[in-house]
Amino acid sequence: MSILIKNGTVINADGTQKADLLVEEEIISKIGESLDETAEKVIDASGKYIIPGGIDVHTHLDMPFGGTVSSDNFETGHIAAAFGGTTSHIDFIIQGKGQSLAEAIDIWHSKADGKACVDYGFHIAITDFTDSVMEELPTLVHTGISSIKLFMAYKNVLQVDDETLFRSLQIAGDNGLLTCVHAENGDAIDVLIKQMLADGKTDPIYHAKSRPHWAEAEATSRAIHLAAIADAPLFVVHLTCASALDQIKMARAKGLKAMAETCVQYLFTTEDDLDRPGFEGAKYVCSPPLRTKKDQEALWEGLINGDLASISTDHCTFNYEGQKELGRGDFSKIPNGLPGIEDRMMVMHHHGVGEGRFSLERWVEITSTNPAKTFGMYPRKGVIAEGSDADLVIWDPEKEHTISVETHHMNIDYNLYEGMEVKGVPEVVFSSGRIVIENGEFKGKVGAGNFIRREAILSVI
Ligand code: URP
Ligand code: ZN
Ligand code: ZN
Repeated sequence: MSILIKNGTVINADGTQKADLLVEEEIISKIGESLDETAEKVIDASGKYIIPGGIDVHTHLDMPFGGTVSSDNFETGHIAAAFGGTTSHIDFIIQGKGQSLAEAIDIWHSKADGKACVDYGFHIAITDFTDSVMEELPTLVHTGISSIKLFMAYKNVLQVDDETLFRSLQIAGDNGLLTCVHAENGDAIDVLIKQMLADGKTDPIYHAKSRPHWAEAEATSRAIHLAAIADAPLFVVHLTCASALDQIKMARAKGLKAMAETCVQYLFTTEDDLDRPGFEGAKYVCSPPLRTKKDQEALWEGLINGDLASISTDHCTFNYEGQKELGRGDFSKIPNGLPGIEDRMMVMHHHGVGEGRFSLERWVEITSTNPAKTFGMYPRKGVIAEGSDADLVIWDPEKEHTISVETHHMNIDYNLYEGMEVKGVPEVVFSSGRIVIENGEFKGKVGAGNFIRREAILSVI
């Protein structure tokens, strides 16, 4: 199918231009002023922005965790992503104990096969670092997966020790793989959790109290130094606080290969939300936990000045009813994770661009271009250029919307940003040349989304 998009304002990370776009099959075939090519469909984008589709590099769809399974799968999560202007994401495969990487990869492919509606890639979280896994790692990049994750927290479940982290960093660095870390000191946290429960401190707020920001700063610093010894690139996921950000700034100032993202929830919610009346605070339980207003300010500053490369969601949905409720009477049993894949682009546009914190170009950079560059997808994705995938959003900067569980498409019974009024919404969304959202409806095909084979990662941004 060919589609001509006329009169739009094309926003890329490196500049803005008025241009027409010709989309043929899956790619952007031509960009120029007043294109007069014939096409099967013509869309007038006067007064609208055209941006590269959002890329969310941190999601957990259909993930077994905390005695349950995250409620958005590759169909519901993808439809929600599309409604929000996100056309690609990278999900975390979790290697089960005793599993080879190949087995874990097969399981995650079968979760997505036949369900995917937009394009998706995988990271793999290594939880059982056996000799055979060590042998498999160098070949990972040939499967189209070029990043791994190590958990420094969730003791006795997902946590790895420093030796494992260090060996993984060495092998990853030598083989074009980027190592991501969940940076919290799981041992100290485990002690605090046990002490709090023994003292009868069982409410959701103690989830945050048992995971102090120093535990994150310490693990961030440790990961940075281990990566420096291994001479390997490092990406700290879901960074939440000023003290951890200081470690990233220090590392980057010294020329170390360290990068970090934050997630939308850390900019808009705080530890106080875990102290809401009744058991409501459970809706805000994620790890690392929500922090303070001061931390929010530091994170905004990091996004503005480039210390933080990108903004993702850590989309990991658990319904309040029946899932978050598993932790009544014991905060450590509340499944960790929050929703956001549908909201990210709108919330960051409204509060980032609309409130004058950063430019349209920087918004595109942190939500799409840098994620693509960091994780081996650029320039196929993350940019509007001839030859790139036609992952596009026609964005209406004037249209207003109130975010709510009543209207969202995520498979979860609450919305973290309930009642937030935003100006600027996706109007038409293309995934690899196919229209997936138009006139407020899902127009895509379930099963049509493709696995993104990512390139080796040889440099840091
Ligand atoms: O609370 C969170 N973040 N849940 C998902 C798993 C993880 O640590 O990323
Ligand atoms: Zn994590
Ligand atoms: Zn996560």
